[in-house]
Amino acid sequence: MAENNATQGARALAVIVLAAGQGTRMKSSLPKVLHRIGGRPLLGHVLDVARDLHPDSVLVVLRHERDRVAEAVTGIAPEIRVVDQDEIPGTGRAVQVALDALGDFDGDVLVLSGDVPLLDADTLDALLSAHRAAAAAATVLTAVVDDPSGYGRVIRAADSSVARIVEQKDATGDEASVTEINAGVYVFRAAPLREHLGLVGTANAQGERYLTDVIGLLRASRLAVAALTAPDAAAALGVNDRVQLAEAARLLNARTVRRWQLAGVTVQDPATTWIDVTATLAPDVTVLPNTHILRATAVSTGAVIGPDTSLVDCEVGEGATVTRSDATLAVIGAGATVGPFSYLRAGTQLAAGGKIGTFVETKNSTIGEGSKVPHLSYVGDTTIGRGVNLGAGAITANYDDLTKHRTHIGDEVHTGSHNVFVAPVRLGDGAKTGAGAVIRKDVPAGALALSVAPQRNIDGWVEKNRAGTAAADAVARARAAEKADDGAQ
Ligand code: UD1
Ligand code: CA
Repeated sequence: MAENNATQGARALAVIVLAAGQGTRMKSSLPKVLHRIGGRPLLGHVLDVARDLHPDSVLVVLRHERDRVAEAVTGIAPEIRVVDQDEIPGTGRAVQVALDALGDFDGDVLVLSGDVPLLDADTLDALLSAHRAAAAAATVLTAVVDDPSGYGRVIRAADSSVARIVEQKDATGDEASVTEINAGVYVFRAAPLREHLGLVGTANAQGERYLTDVIGLLRASRLAVAALTAPDAAAALGVNDRVQLAEAARLLNARTVRRWQLAGVTVQDPATTWIDVTATLAPDVTVLPNTHILRATAVSTGAVIGPDTSLVDCEVGEGATVTRSDATLAVIGAGATVGPFSYLRAGTQLAAGGKIGTFVETKNSTIGEGSKVPHLSYVGDTTIGRGVNLGAGAITANYDDLTKHRTHIGDEVHTGSHNVFVAPVRLGDGAKTGAGAVIRKDVPAGALALSVAPQRNIDGWVEKNRAGTAAADAVARARAAEKADDGAQ
């Protein structure tokens, strides 16, 4: 258990995460803070960084789609308290209801926004240190950006201290041209915050109670307001629409890729490689272009993934290769090979040294050590032993229109091309099947199963029935060549 803030001798710390807004600009039926980047909801990223600080308490303020968001919060961190904002709108009101829920709390209050997902714990630590060093009533995280559109602008006094924050909609032309923006992240002393939130009005373009007004009000009370400018402006990126959502996803991904590169993973093309924050890669993994490594995927050392590959919740063993393929909830053993162009669905388990080759779909199937399904096959609800080779075009007919049945294939079985295994069916160890067999009955160990009628050739059929066609001409040429051959002998 990590030390919490209080035991480090600092003032108590409460974190309030604002997530009650509707997120209108997303134009989505999904609440904004539940949109995902890096495989996790925006709010999940914010709650993670909040917990990294080991605060005494974390509160999330909800209103829009309250139950849906609350369920997500509980899923991420059950210890986090949910506070309900009432019908009075605005970030100021949101903080006020959370502060009420904290009772007579008298420490520092860190306010985070559920839609500012790229903040890192180092930046927040620096913000808290700056706040405590300045003995400030409030400390604002700011960032200098190329395009400040949509953000609140930080208005500095002549002595360069922060005078107030003005929202874009309320800004004069001069104010709007300021490129230092409010990240929507602040630390406040609880008591002055409580007192000044009571003074916030609604005389602004949106008729809301702005948290940002507290800054000007604290200054008017001659209380110290400090600011920290984020060294990396990306940390302050707010997500209000889908353009910013994609930008946040890109920046987060760049950060994740870089982290794995520095940990020993070769990523040939960071721009087209997407790695969720929940995935793990060992040193000396190679990731080729256009590859998605998602959710809880774990890749062991020496594996080569890509190009053009997507892994969702997969486990890839040491030295395995997965080329131009799609896999979900699959386990790929050490040294196994997959692809190009295969589709591994949930429950695929390919043992060490096994192969799922080209144009193969697998589902809910175990493929034993060193066993191969090399070409053009469907393997569903099947257990395959070790050392097996399924001929090209093997199809397990696992569905009889009512239920699914299993196919069992023993060790060292080799099957002919273009077989259908009509489940439920078993092939014993060492069994063999002929080309084109439709296996409807169990095959005992060591047996050769043939289900195709012997071939019958009707001589001269083409000359008789297809006279004058190109095929008949070809036959005539063949006959002439045969004759010439015979004459020469
Ligand atoms: C806010 C800031 C702006 C800052 C920007 C940074 C205010 C008035 N403005 O603007 O200065 O540059 O964030 O990203 O604070 N929320 C509630 N309850 C509400 C309204 C909002 O909980 O009644 C939550 C939202 O869910 C969101 C956060 O507060 O997570 C910010 O709200 P949003 O409407 O996105 O504010 P911005 O316009 O981005
Ligand atoms: Ca916002």
